[in-house]
This record gives sequence, structure tokens and C-alpha cells, in this order.
Amino acid sequence: MATLISSRTHEPLVLGIETSCDETGVGVVRGHTLLADAVASSVDDHARYGGVVPEIASRAHLEAMVPTIRRALEEAGVTAADLDGVAVTAGPGLAGALLVGVSAAKAYAYALGKPLYGVNHLASHICVDQLEHGALPEPTMALLVSGGHSSLLLAPDITTDVRPLGATIDDAAGEAFDKVARVLGLGFPGGPVIDRYAREGDPAAIAFPRGLTGPRDAPYDFSFSGLKTAVARWIEARRRAGEEVPVADVAASFQEAVTDVLTRKAIRACKDEGVGHLMIGGGVAANSRLRAMAEERCADAGLTLRVPRPKLCTDNGAMVAALGAEMVARGRPASGWDLPADSSLPVTEPHVPAASAAGHHGPPSGAGRPGHGNQGHRGHRGHGHDHDHVHELSRKNLYDA
Ligand code: KG4
Ligand code: ZN
Repeated sequence: MATLISSRTHEPLVLGIETSCDETGVGVVRGHTLLADAVASSVDDHARYGGVVPEIASRAHLEAMVPTIRRALEEAGVTAADLDGVAVTAGPGLAGALLVGVSAAKAYAYALGKPLYGVNHLASHICVDQLEHGALPEPTMALLVSGGHSSLLLAPDITTDVRPLGATIDDAAGEAFDKVARVLGLGFPGGPVIDRYAREGDPAAIAFPRGLTGPRDAPYDFSFSGLKTAVARWIEARRRAGEEVPVADVAASFQEAVTDVLTRKAIRACKDEGVGHLMIGGGVAANSRLRAMAEERCADAGLTLRVPRPKLCTDNGAMVAALGAEMVARGRPASGWDLPADSSLPVTEPHVPAASAAGHHGPPSGAGRPGHGNQGHRGHRGHGHDHDHVHELSRKNLYDA
């Protein structure tokens, strides 16, 4: 018993800062234990624009940063001096927003004399499940669905090795929710409100298309743009005919199309790769139908499903702290004081080690990270396409009809 307690107290205590989009998140974790999860959201400031406005987000992060860090430390009942490290989202995300978090993390880490860990936002969305369900199985299959991303990722080691199997070729899943909600006049963000309306609707009322599910389509890629257009056209036709739009049925049928494709492809990836666990993360993982359908289909397929509670699915600081704690626990090298905010940090880079450590931060076995050789993390746009939707989303929502 005594050893158990003492080993627990030696689990790394890490503060995590997340500012990649519109949430200023600060979390504190000890190993796999969540101690605090403080979030200040600027979502209301963006609502009237129908999408996240990067400059407004950056300003809001700046104002919320210090109070949110104080609140998280207080909630956790620890002092900054107790920390074993400070972790921060280094990318991908909105450049200006990321910069606020990275600067704050550097300032705190430097002043406190603690190591700094710049980590990947996407890997953090996966790692957060350790706070809910304990150590991630290795490998883990992760379906990551948010406003900026829709990816299937195979993670043999969340601190060093994350492999993209597929991603959206156009809109992200959350983006589709946001756009359909906009067409229905339901406000922003669209996910939660569509989720609510859908509960009263018939998911089989309208047969909306399932993108990229043909026999010759890429098995792990997603496409939601055609679905979004189909929904908009259907609504338009109704309105033109002077008929009322059955909002609940449209919401339920649209949501059914998204969740059907997501779960089908994720389960197929698990089967093809021989992985027994499916993790679902990102804001869309808060969707009640996605959770229920995944539960049912995973059970039928003999797979174990891991989905964190909704609050840990949307952007938060605890997920960053969770990945930071894992970096410390596994002895991964810290980041340098020149850590950049990298808006297109590739998903294959779970963290950004100091330049001097970059050559040898692979797993202890010595196996290098797959694809590392051709994926520099600065200025590499090719792997940031999923992230670029964040910018596109804000721009489109702001300026498009
Ligand atoms: O992970 P997240 O908080 O931020 C990004 O990294 O994008 O995800 C936000 C996205 C938004 O598009 C929002 O509409 C969607 O997650 N979302 C949902 C639900 N809650 C949030 N989508 C469907 N159902 C929900 N309950
Ligand atoms: Zn996110």
C-alpha cells in the first residue's frame, strides 16, 4: 500500500496550456489523474460572425491566460513550484492564437525553472482519454473529429509514433455540423444544437448521401462537402415550394449520415489493422448519436470503445497536460526556448523536442518515427491540410453566402 501511494505521488505533475482555437484551456494532471480543467471560451464573441475570427481569439487568449492559469492551479490545489513541467499546444491551429499559449508557457516554464513541452493538438485529443480510462493500449486506433479535423490515426506510441491512415478531403465533420446549422438558422457552433434537435427527429426521414463509401473510394478518407450541399439543396427546395422545413428530421438525418460514415470507416480500420481498441476524440466526439452508434457497432465487432466525457472531447488544457505528463513519464526530451508556434505542425509529430535532441528522440528501442525524414515541422504545408480548414472555416463563414 505504502509503495502504491508513493509511486503515485511520483507521477509527473504537469500544467497544460491550449490556445489553438477559441478556447483558453489550462489543465493540471498528475500522471493519468485529472486535477483541474479550467476553460475560458471566447465562443460567444465569435457567434455573430458565424465562425472563429482569429484576431478576436488571440486577444481573448491574452486576456484570459493568467487568470485561467491561476484558476487551474487553485482548483488542482498545487503551486506552480510543485510542477514537473509545463506543456503547451505548439500546433496545429491558428497561428496568432497558438503564439499566445506558447509565449505564456515559455514565460512560466522559464521563470519556474521547469522543462517546457511543446505538444501536438491532435495527439493531445487522443491522450486525454488516459485521464478517463487509464493507459492507452498500444497501438490505439483513434478517430479524431472536430471543427478543424477528421482523421483516422494509428498510434503505436502517443509520444513518438502517430500514423495517419486517412483524413477528410474537404470539410471536417464539425465544420459540416456548423455549416448545416447555419443553413438551418440554428447559430454557431452547430454541433451541440443539431445534436439536441436530432433527438426529436427521425434519422431515416431523409436519405442523405454517405460520402466516399463506394467500393473504389479510399477506405479511410472522409468527405462531408457533398453531404453539406445535399442538405442545403434539400432545405432550399422545401423553402422554394413554400413548405415548412422539418428541422428535427433534417438534423437527425444529417447527423445519421455523418456518424454512419465515421463509425463504419473507423471500425473497418480497426479490423484491417488488427487493433482491438477504438478511441474517439475531438469536439464531435461529444455528439450523443456518434457515441451511441459507436458503442453499438464496436460491441457487434468485438472492439473496445474508449470515448472521454464530452467536456474532455472539446478543446481543453487537460488534454495538453495529459500528453505532457506522458512525455515526462517516458523521458522524452523537453522543447527548446525557441519552440515555435507551428500552425501546420504535422500529426506525425506528437511533440517538438529541442533542436539538439531532435535526432534521438525516437522510442527507446531505437526505431525511428516513420516518415520523420521527410516531415520537417516548420513551414511544411503538405501535412497541414486538415488544419487549414480552421482558417478556411473562419474565412468561409465570414465572407461566403
Ligand atoms: O475539438 P473542438 O472543440 O475544436 C476544434 O479543434 O475544432 O471541436 C469543435 C467542433 C465544432 O465544429 C462543434 O460544432 C463540434 O465540435 N461539436 C459537436 C458537438 N459538440 C461540439 N458536433 C456534434 N455534436 C456535438 N454534440
Ligand atoms: Zn481540437
